[in-house]
Amino acid sequence: MDKLFTPFQAGAIALDNRVVMAPLTRNRATNQVPNDLMVEYYRQRAKPSTGMGLIITEATPISPMAHGYLDTPGIYTPEQVAAWKKVTDAVHAEGGKIVVQLWHVGRISHSSLLPGGAAPVSSTSKAANSKTYIAGGFAPTSAPRALTVEEIAATVQDYRHAARCAIEAGFDGVEIHAANGYLIEQFLRDSCNDRSDAYGGSIENRVRFLREVAQAIVAEIGAGRTGIRLSPITPANDIGQDSNAQALFAAVAGVLAPMKLAYVHVVEGATGGPRDLSDQGITFDFAALRAAFDGVAWMVNNGYDRAMAIAAVDSGAADLVAFGKPAISNPDLTRRLRENAPLNPVDPAKLYGGSGPEGYTDYPTLG
Ligand SMILES: Cc1cc2nc3c(=O)[nH]c(=O)nc-3n(C[C@H](O)[C@H](O)[C@H](O)COP(=O)(O)O)c2cc1C
Repeated sequence: MDKLFTPFQAGAIALDNRVVMAPLTRNRATNQVPNDLMVEYYRQRAKPSTGMGLIITEATPISPMAHGYLDTPGIYTPEQVAAWKKVTDAVHAEGGKIVVQLWHVGRISHSSLLPGGAAPVSSTSKAANSKTYIAGGFAPTSAPRALTVEEIAATVQDYRHAARCAIEAGFDGVEIHAANGYLIEQFLRDSCNDRSDAYGGSIENRVRFLREVAQAIVAEIGAGRTGIRLSPITPANDIGQDSNAQALFAAVAGVLAPMKLAYVHVVEGATGGPRDLSDQGITFDFAALRAAFDGVAWMVNNGYDRAMAIAAVDSGAADLVAFGKPAISNPDLTRRLRENAPLNPVDPAKLYGGSGPEGYTDYPTLG
């Protein structure tokens, strides 16, 4: 059997196979709380023999200020915890495993989504030239305000609280969302971070916020239940390229590797776009980054098909492969990959929002 379909131990999380559902925002929560259709959506993808060995939830805001898109479910109130418990119970009843992706969007937000119409917060007060999804459709992001040092400390505590809520909600662990141009990357990259205090300037200073977030979460729930997503060269959300991504992420590895996290999840190339950006003069040595993480479980993503996934795991280039769009349209993705069956195409018009099953829980499984 191809190794992709064999069990794997990611930190404290025992997986039946190495096919992972990537984090996928669907904008289907009700008043920022998971609903019953969401329970059904995750349940459909949970049975390891047909569905995914690990589900990573849609990105999930850690506090009211962490929201940046309409109808995303939070993980910081008792009501949200109780609603997520229904999701994790359904997944576990099928024999599956599920972690929640902990999210703070930073400046990729809109005042209409924030408490009292507040401005979004970031490492910087520079606005992103990007759009977000609000009531009525896509809209330009609002100009942010730079967090004070005291507010940074409070935000770290928001991450810690959300991780505690995740365990109370029955999740097998959490994935720190440090990718795709959101708050953590707004601190990491010098293309965005223009601070002159302890959180800006040198690489060590720009990594400080991520280090504090990871330390707080690990102290709260344990490293074996903590994964992280990184996207060293994605241009997503107008983040811009760091002047030395290889050195920056080597420093990230230097800080995180000793923590012995459950896994590291890398987006190779531009998220949802080209894997190879060398024609734009942008290169990154992912193998070197992996080596710097020294034995931590390695999850890859971005544009993988069956052959690429099997080859990546068989060759040892990766331990786990995360699928995005294929996991949306194929609740029985693992079975289809194992049997080399055709995949349902994804309906691009139904990726975000909606209230009924169309394009969400009505993708067919094999007969
Ligand atoms: C509808 C949709 C929603 C997404 N939401 C998230 C998200 O919440 N968090 C995240 O880290 N990436 C998100 N992504 C990126 C995917 O996780 C993944 O990196 C991307 O789709 C590339 O993988 P694929 O080629 O297998 O689809 C999203 C992508 C899509 C298409």
